[in-house]
Amino acid sequence: MARKMANKWAPDTWRTKPIIQVPEYPDPEKLAAVEARLKRCPPLVFAGEARNLKRDLARVAAGQAFLLQGGDCAESFAEFHPDNIRDTFRVLLQMAVVLTFGASLPVIKVGRLAGQFAKPRSEPTETQNGVTLPSYRGDMINAMEFNPEGRVPDPERLMQAYYQSAATLNLLRAFAQGGYADLHKVHQWNLGFVANSPLGERYQDLADRLGETLAFMAACGLTSETTPQIRETAFYTSHEALILNYEQAMTRVDSTTGDWYDTSAHLLWIGDRTRALDGAHVEFMRGIGNPIAFKAGPSTKADEMLKLIDVLNPSNEAGRLTIVARMGADKVTTLLPPLIRAVKREGKTVAWVCDPMHGNTVKSATGYKTRAFERILEEVQGFFSVHQAEGTYAGGVHFEMTGQDVTECTGGAVAITEANLSARYHTHCDPRLNAKQALELAFLLAEILKQGRDHAAQRAAIAP
Ligand code: PEP
Ligand code: CO
Repeated sequence: MARKMANKWAPDTWRTKPIIQVPEYPDPEKLAAVEARLKRCPPLVFAGEARNLKRDLARVAAGQAFLLQGGDCAESFAEFHPDNIRDTFRVLLQMAVVLTFGASLPVIKVGRLAGQFAKPRSEPTETQNGVTLPSYRGDMINAMEFNPEGRVPDPERLMQAYYQSAATLNLLRAFAQGGYADLHKVHQWNLGFVANSPLGERYQDLADRLGETLAFMAACGLTSETTPQIRETAFYTSHEALILNYEQAMTRVDSTTGDWYDTSAHLLWIGDRTRALDGAHVEFMRGIGNPIAFKAGPSTKADEMLKLIDVLNPSNEAGRLTIVARMGADKVTTLLPPLIRAVKREGKTVAWVCDPMHGNTVKSATGYKTRAFERILEEVQGFFSVHQAEGTYAGGVHFEMTGQDVTECTGGAVAITEANLSARYHTHCDPRLNAKQALELAFLLAEILKQGRDHAAQRAAIAP
């Protein structure tokens, strides 16, 4: 479908469009002053890195790589600690190794980290014991504590989010390049997990084969010393581009191409609530050169989605656009196929990724927002079976997870029950998989990926 000549874009054209899910700052001058300060701060990522991720995501769209995206629902100032960053990074690496082995494909690692501080909310206000206050919108906006002062949006929090992101990213870069991510080390951690898991026997075989493969590679001379790919890894960052004042301030012209890049993260996404075609968030995102994504929930209509794809990726560039489907375990097999067919029919190049978290949130009898491990797995399975039936490629997964031993999602091999949720329920927003649950999911996913590979190999073998 031919689109009218796009209107001229600039980092601030979003300001002329209707906007939702953003705070009302009581002091616009203070906000403007913070934006001016942010504009002078160094970029967090470099445009060339964002282009590398775009290249990697083009491989995902083409069925030649798999995306693993994961991290906190909302990062917090209070839980800012090197151990938390390290532990989440470590679990992501462990999952990636397992998935690489299952898929026999490179796994592209993208954290919901170093910038994931702002949350869209279902309700603008929250009432406790008869008192109504503005909702908590994430640490870059206001405080989680339920008191009138804390809930006032404070622009200074944008600066704190920036500095925390910079420090987090610095550590992640050190881990990724400095030897911490060595494949042999990651394999040893996985062996520890398998040895301690009640379902360890089920995972032992995969772990054994991975160990043999590493030993074989070493025998061939491919060791940490000789091979950077074994010693180091590429790790990217992402967050929801919700607070456009912040994103605009971080948007800079790349001196090598002359294009605009949002340097707050490698990949930015549009949430399910803010993907209105004529809204401010879509306007901002269409002009940045980064790889971008949008979330597609149950309300997504195929025709609107195609228009959105045209606005966000008018030249149909591979790797530019990822669609993160989050339908819910019950709905994925009915709501996803029409979307996939529409994209295929129109010849659009996108990477399809499954977020099995946001469509499966429920309230426990004890009042906690939670998600059941079994439902999360069910949505992933549904996502894969839909793609298999449609002859398209299930390109990746998007999890809310942490390296800590929290009790926020129920189920898993070390079963967390509704009664246990209160023990270590620490999230600032949505319930996350804990380290064991996340790894277990990776092992189960590796089995699904391997089955898919075996089917494809069989089809190829019997093809005329
Ligand atoms: C999220 O990713 O935390 C989120 C709010 O997702 P969605 O926009 O899909 O609801
Ligand atoms: Co969330």
